[in-house]
Amino acid sequence: MSVGSLLILPGDGIGPEVMAEVRRIIDWYGEKRGLTFDVSEDLVGGSAYDKHGVPLADETMAKAQEVDAVLLGAVGGPKYDDLDFSVKPERGLLRLRKEMDLFANLRPAQCFDALADFSSLKKDVIAGLDIMIVRELTSGIYFGEPRGIFTENNERVGVNTQRYTESEIDRVARSAFELAMKRGKKLCSMEKANVMESGILWREVVTEVAKDYPEVELSHMYADAGGMQLARWPKQFDVIVTDNLFGDLLSDVAAMLTGSLGMLPSASLGLPMANGRPKALYEPVHGSAPDIAGQGKANPIACILSFAMALRYSFDEGAEADRLEAAIETVLAQGKRTADLLGEEGVTPVSTTEMGDAILDALEASL
Ligand code: NAD
Ligand code: IPM
Ligand code: MN
Repeated sequence: MSVGSLLILPGDGIGPEVMAEVRRIIDWYGEKRGLTFDVSEDLVGGSAYDKHGVPLADETMAKAQEVDAVLLGAVGGPKYDDLDFSVKPERGLLRLRKEMDLFANLRPAQCFDALADFSSLKKDVIAGLDIMIVRELTSGIYFGEPRGIFTENNERVGVNTQRYTESEIDRVARSAFELAMKRGKKLCSMEKANVMESGILWREVVTEVAKDYPEVELSHMYADAGGMQLARWPKQFDVIVTDNLFGDLLSDVAAMLTGSLGMLPSASLGLPMANGRPKALYEPVHGSAPDIAGQGKANPIACILSFAMALRYSFDEGAEADRLEAAIETVLAQGKRTADLLGEEGVTPVSTTEMGDAILDALEASL
């Protein structure tokens, strides 16, 4: 019996390369754990533009609204740099997030023991690191109006608007508090209430929501100082909640703490559907990596870990998600490294597919 439906959108660049490894893992779960999914596949980003002239076809959007979970690889690439803004590959992803109303973007940054030496920070700063960034994903300066490039006083002006309603802040704050309750019961909210009214409101609303979670220790930080603290002593954090743009920046910083962008997964969650499961899209934090696309060098772990998040958050298969994460830990402990994780001289990198092979072997050994 199928445990649910999955729409796979490999996208562009290394997206299809890393997603091919996820497909093999999905097949393994079907064969060996009895977890079969109704899988369909479609186009997003530049690949959708090439076929349909838009980065996300309406039929694909409609399918995404119906499935239990969407898995996305990555979008974008230099081939599409000169396209009109309205049809750029990234707009396809933003449309999915907005129309599915995926307001809570969970970006965990965990340091695998085997990679504790690999970060550009000292080992004791990152060993054992396990933080969760909750980024607001459907509002803020990414979507606020007015926006555009206008002409004023004979010169052009580029405009974007940071805008948050109380209810938008309230719902993402609640998601973050709920996560904090299941983790270390610490939440740090980041904004710039010192210079932005939207930050003042953000701080007020988060403080109000905190009354419903008396067990969670809430702190506030200006987002710039938050970036500095992430680089100085990241283990002071448990859950961080922040807006769309700050969350984009801070999660790339957090990614590098753990070694490589190729390691960081994400879950974007919305409201519960009729079956009780949240609307959900899972994707690695990294992009289409045009510099290494087509060379078999991409690290598939971020995308595979994103599938592990799908098992946990959409399909209530936490134990199977743990199994997959443990298999990845095993493979890293064996010293297997894709090129992005190479620090030491004389270690030969494994390819994307070889990394997939090793993870499948470790899964097999876990039975
Ligand atoms: P990027 O994440 O694609 O690449 C940044 C660097 O990290 C590159 O050197 C790349 O080789 C490396 N890298 C990223 N993922 C890797 C992996 N899995 N394995 C090994 N190395 C990896 O970011 P960018 O270069 O700023 O953006 C390239 C394109 O991707 C742009 O069009 C951008 O808009 C898009 N993008 C898409 C997403 C997404 O689809 N969610 C996210 C970020 C960027
Ligand atoms: C991310 C990416 C996206 C963002 C782009 C590709 C739209 O950088 O998912 O972090 O800015 O949100
Ligand atoms: Mn980003």
